[in-house]
Amino acid sequence: MVQMAHIGYTCVSCGDFSPADPFHYTCEKCGANLDAVYDYDQIKKDWSRKYLLENRNRSIWRYLPILPVNRNPEASSIQVGGTPLVRQTRLAQKLGIKNLWLKDDTRNPSGSLKDRATEVGIQHAKELGFETIVAASTGNAAASLACLSAVHKMDAVIFTPSSAPPAKLTQILQYGAQLFPVDGTYDNAFDLSMEVVKAAGWYLRSTGINPILSEGKKTVALEIAEQLNWDVPDQVFVPVGDGCIIGGVYKGFYDLNQLGWIDHIPKIIAVQAEGSAAIVHALTSGTLTSVKADTVADSISVDMPRDGQKAIRAVKESNGYGLKVTDAEILAAQHRLAKTTGVFAEPAAATAFAGLLKSVNKGKINSDETATVLITGTGLKDINTAQKLVNVPSHISPDLESFNAAWTRLNG
Ligand SMILES: Cc1ncc(COP(=O)(O)O)c(C=O)c1O
Ligand SMILES: [Zn+2]
Repeated sequence: MVQMAHIGYTCVSCGDFSPADPFHYTCEKCGANLDAVYDYDQIKKDWSRKYLLENRNRSIWRYLPILPVNRNPEASSIQVGGTPLVRQTRLAQKLGIKNLWLKDDTRNPSGSLKDRATEVGIQHAKELGFETIVAASTGNAAASLACLSAVHKMDAVIFTPSSAPPAKLTQILQYGAQLFPVDGTYDNAFDLSMEVVKAAGWYLRSTGINPILSEGKKTVALEIAEQLNWDVPDQVFVPVGDGCIIGGVYKGFYDLNQLGWIDHIPKIIAVQAEGSAAIVHALTSGTLTSVKADTVADSISVDMPRDGQKAIRAVKESNGYGLKVTDAEILAAQHRLAKTTGVFAEPAAATAFAGLLKSVNKGKINSDETATVLITGTGLKDINTAQKLVNVPSHISPDLESFNAAWTRLNG
């Protein structure tokens, strides 16, 4: 029987330690975000890579000993995690790097990496006795909360910018969640979610405050390492908005390094849209300041990143770097990725791939290095943006003559 090794939290800013119970979202001393702390010796006693080899559960719950919840792993009827890590030999050759893998998290139940955080967050909320969970989101975290709340019989209350792509809003409603589209930005929706949680006493699943969510997201790093037989890539490219995913990616590799299961933490590369690049700016200027976000990549359109400190630490501690890409580069990367790999990513997810292309062009990745790109969400969620580079052709009549004419028009 594996014992719970989660012992509490430390503050990312002042370092204060607090026990796991009673739970606080942020540091009681300074208000900054928290990191989950584990007793690694305890984990090493109870758990091993060999144990994982024998575990046939492919979901994130195979990593339960290093998650901050207690759970009956049989309890989920849906698989979160266990997504493919797809090797791209030809593309790697073309780019002149040693190896390239795509971590295809579009394959999660609601179509994005956010399901990893939601699955653990819902379990945590249940353990604390909550029945209603609130999220502010650019769309994916909300769709994820709506989906997994339906699975786990929880009530979901959701705030999104009213400008969120219709597919994401429809998804939320199909899963039966209560949706409140907010006239304003994601940042406005976020602030409202905080007020509602305070007033109503519900559980908060908004990204970037609740430390449980980074713990869920870290499972993507655990999977990458395990899928590569614990030989981690040299560079991992992550799209960044609030900074929670990248913070989680670092935490996953950090935990594995502490356990001695990997021998180093890969360089973690923060890729942001030029119009929403607070974290990349902070990496050069040394201070995190708000921007006026404006990008086609709606999921990473953030004025003030809520998990900025964790994001900056992820890059610095891993000897990584930050990259900005333009909207045009994001759209081109989205199309190239789909055409060359069969993975249709939403613009935010394609941002990471655009980052890899830029890194190659700038000589920041060498020919003897390997890379993994996180594909964090499916392109089907935002068709309008995806159609900026591809046009549905004009109609043809259902006869061979029309086809031949259209073929000639298209192909000469
Ligand atoms: C598809 C996708 N990629 C990347 C991100 C960025 O994650 P974070 O806000 O944790 O930096 C998000 C966040 O909404 C997302 O939905
Ligand atoms: Zn603190």
